[in-house]
Amino acid sequence: MHRTAACQNFDRSLNSPEFANNPYPLYQALRESAPVYWSEAWRCWILTRYDDIQAVLRDPPRFTSLERLTSTVKPDIPEAVWEQIQPLVRHYSSGLVNVDPPDHTRLRNLVHKAFTGRTISKLQGYVQQLVDQLLDKVQGDGHMDLVRDLAYPLPVNVIAELLGVPLEDHDKLKRWSSGSMEFMTTPLPTPKALLRSQEALLNLREFFRKIYTQCRQQPDDKLVSTLLAVCDEGERLSEEDLLSTCVTLLVAGHETTSSLISGAVLALLQNPDQLRKLRENPALIEGAVEESLRYDGPFQRNRRIAREDVAIDGKQIGKGQLVLVFLGAANRDPSHFPDPDRFDIERIPNRHISFGAGVHFCLGASLARLEARIAINAILSRMPDLRLATETLEWENHLLRGLKALPVSF
Ligand code: HEM
Repeated sequence: MHRTAACQNFDRSLNSPEFANNPYPLYQALRESAPVYWSEAWRCWILTRYDDIQAVLRDPPRFTSLERLTSTVKPDIPEAVWEQIQPLVRHYSSGLVNVDPPDHTRLRNLVHKAFTGRTISKLQGYVQQLVDQLLDKVQGDGHMDLVRDLAYPLPVNVIAELLGVPLEDHDKLKRWSSGSMEFMTTPLPTPKALLRSQEALLNLREFFRKIYTQCRQQPDDKLVSTLLAVCDEGERLSEEDLLSTCVTLLVAGHETTSSLISGAVLALLQNPDQLRKLRENPALIEGAVEESLRYDGPFQRNRRIAREDVAIDGKQIGKGQLVLVFLGAANRDPSHFPDPDRFDIERIPNRHISFGAGVHFCLGASLARLEARIAINAILSRMPDLRLATETLEWENHLLRGLKALPVSF
């Protein structure tokens, strides 16, 4: 096919519903024929090879996280809307996940002091109890929507417990958290999507501001109070740092972990030999979780902005241009994963990049792994005859690869 026609096809495919439902054929086509691809439709570069993506993520001096969510929006929206969304722009110009070293190093050291391995292992009993309660509710019915009944409520409740949020506020938080991400699902969001996201974000910030004030007056043993107390070489988190960290922890760890749990169960049901293997040898659970992260990871693409002109694979990426790295495509790159489309819970090595790479490597990876292990173990041991109860599956969007529903019977 003529190169221009092929590129137009790629652009059409990126915006198609089929891509959100199954991005893997397009990933393969891009990786093989245009691994560093300029998308006219999304006005950004798209990278699909494992080595190129690793190189970008490990190079903050040339590929920055600063303003990666908002800087490319400016030329496409009216000046008045740009003025109106300044609170959103400011929020995404600061905070752990949006800044580069050395600011990032300072923040990460501080947050890491509060969010430790011990913090996470202390949650183990709570996670187990919550999984048991959620499954108790549906066990007698013989069927459930695994997303609605388990995968969705579990992570948001766990993060809310971690941060010390009252139970009655959990639904609100779920709504605002998803709402705040709406504008990220496309590189070219509409003014309406930007304004809706900003409204949800401001609600979240106000919510955490109240908790922050309470914890200053009456510290408890939850994460917000611990974050307030941490000190590293005389440095403390400012109120702004703390608010943006709380929002990141909530948003980053909520839908991603839901998608991991539902995606893992789906992959096991669609690969009965692997499910049988796991039932026969429950010690394979860690491998099953890692392979689920690789095979169909929850967070499909990440962003950086080129800080200078950079050449990759003979293509000139211009200063200021947006670079999308397709993590899901890297995880199926045959030069790192032999037979990449095979779901194999005993795959070794399995150096997937679903949790990112470099300095921004996911801070909540061990919490996500813990929740997934406990949830999958409980499902398999309580539901020996688990079956898929639908022929049609639908995913939320391409950024967060979460199933809308996963009906199962048992
Ligand atoms: C399966 C579930 C999860 C996936 C796939 C995931 C994925 C990621 C990815 C790809 C990044 C890197 C972002 C970047 O480079 O710009 C990241 C960062 C982060 N994640 Fe996760 N995440 C998950 C669960 C969680 C959980 C449960 C939490 C916490 C409760 C969490 C907290 C964070 C934080 C705080 C960062 C920012 C780290 C930094 O910038 O230094 N994540 N995550």
